Amino acid sequence: MARRKKVYEGKAKILYEGPEPGTLVQYFKDDATAFNAEKKDVIEGKGVLNNRLSEFFMNGLNAVGVPTHFIKRLNMREQLIRSVEIIPLEVVVRNVAAGSLSKRLGIEEGQPLPRPIIEFYFKDDKLGDPMVSEEHIIAFGWANQQDIDDMVALALRVNDFLSGCMLAVGIRLVDFKIEIGRIWENDFHRLIVADEISPDSCRLWDIETGKKLDKDVFRQDLGSLSDAYTEVARRLGVLPHNS
Ligand code: C5P
Repeated sequence: MARRKKVYEGKAKILYEGPEPGTLVQYFKDDATAFNAEKKDVIEGKGVLNNRLSEFFMNGLNAVGVPTHFIKRLNMREQLIRSVEIIPLEVVVRNVAAGSLSKRLGIEEGQPLPRPIIEFYFKDDKLGDPMVSEEHIIAFGWANQQDIDDMVALALRVNDFLSGCMLAVGIRLVDFKIEIGRIWENDFHRLIVADEISPDSCRLWDIETGKKLDKDVFRQDLGSLSDAYTEVARRLGVLPHNS
């Protein structure tokens, strides 16, 4: 069989050319990185769990009318997605203070925020993904004002959906990151959710105990990352309860 053409390789995923024009195959690796890849490990089975979890969230979003790049899962580690023009921004939504927000503004971790806060970071590993304002985004041409309004609306809809999914299984959605891409139709484009949604890119705390069930387990050496992700997947019914 001819080898598939690799289109892009990132820290946790590889993109291959898809079977049809306008499609790609997204492969989930077991590699875990944190602090801009200063900390690295291979967590056996992480790719399989994130492929399943991202399928679950993207399918749910598609079902409630929030457009995503997800088409279908192909196998344990791969899913078929729509090819998009990625906007070079990480869109972070926060419900509870944690991580870089707590550090930057001195707000105690765990403090609920008065409203969801949306932040944009410029995707650039060499620069360490710096936070940027709408002024920067427009001035440097990464997106226009309409795109920004649409990104905010998409991010808030994703937040409502994910918060509800998690609350139903006793988990608080503290914050998360999404990436957004453009789909072109003639001269017009619309925005859809791309990349992945998984515990790699969310903060998830058990509502009862506060136990962390996300990549902070790896960042902060709090125990087994695959146990944490398996727990999330089991609660959501993505894995059978006895697996
Ligand atoms: O580190 P910080 O507090 O800014 O992260 C906010 C959220 O965005 C966290 O859920 C984190 O996992 C996610 N994130 C990410 N990829 C990055 C930076 C942050 O998924 N490069």
